[in-house]
Amino acid sequence: MRIYMEKDYAAMSRRAAHIIAAEIHKNPACVLGLATGSTPIGTYQKLVEWCKAGDLSFAEVTTVNLDEYKGLSGEHDQSYRYFMNDNLFNHVDIDKDFTFVPDGLAEDAEAECAEYDELVEALGYADLQLLGIGHNGHIGFNEPDTCFTKETHVVNLTDSTIDANTRFFANRDEVPRQALTMGVGCIMAAGRVLLIASGEGKADAVYNTVCGPITPECPASILQLHPDVVIVGDEAALSKLVAAGVEVCK
Ligand code: PGA
Repeated sequence: MRIYMEKDYAAMSRRAAHIIAAEIHKNPACVLGLATGSTPIGTYQKLVEWCKAGDLSFAEVTTVNLDEYKGLSGEHDQSYRYFMNDNLFNHVDIDKDFTFVPDGLAEDAEAECAEYDELVEALGYADLQLLGIGHNGHIGFNEPDTCFTKETHVVNLTDSTIDANTRFFANRDEVPRQALTMGVGCIMAAGRVLLIASGEGKADAVYNTVCGPITPECPASILQLHPDVVIVGDEAALSKLVAAGVEVCK
């Protein structure tokens, strides 16, 4: 694991965007695994900026997103399809036919999950998988559990995740209770994983990810078994790692 500590959110975003841009420069037809949430917004802004300046092109890139709320259409402004269009795809030269997000409205959600796994496998898995991390250590919507789930699956969101996501909806009742999420299989099959974290609220989750036992109680801890993980965090998110004496790059 390589861990970069950046001063603040802006510097974290810039570092993460550089790592993604490097992947695209190395292989313009790469497959990027993408994430939603507030953490990657600054990273996407940097990528948009560089694309608009002509320094980066998504023309041949394919993307696969981690998850989608069950029951929301891509037109709903809190759906993750909408988020991706709004924060990245509408502003870069990507072919949207090559951007994939699980379909939250699929009549048969289980079948949609199975098809999503087949799709990601057929694409050869992500060359680089971007991840945020939940306060409870979730990645995608893989919530703390008694076992890891390998396949893409339908999950019941935990109260803490519903609470954390209420800020994006008019009220708590409007937050969907279920989501379709990649399991840890596709995430672990990615060539490289880039996990980004910002703020003190993530410090425990990041510490448990790196230093804790590998347990489904902290889903991100499975990344200890991945051969190529890069964590980029700001000082607050990495504070507990640093206090524990874990070496970080600056
Ligand atoms: P956040 O969410 O970026 O909005 O904090 C991260 C996550 O829950 O994966």
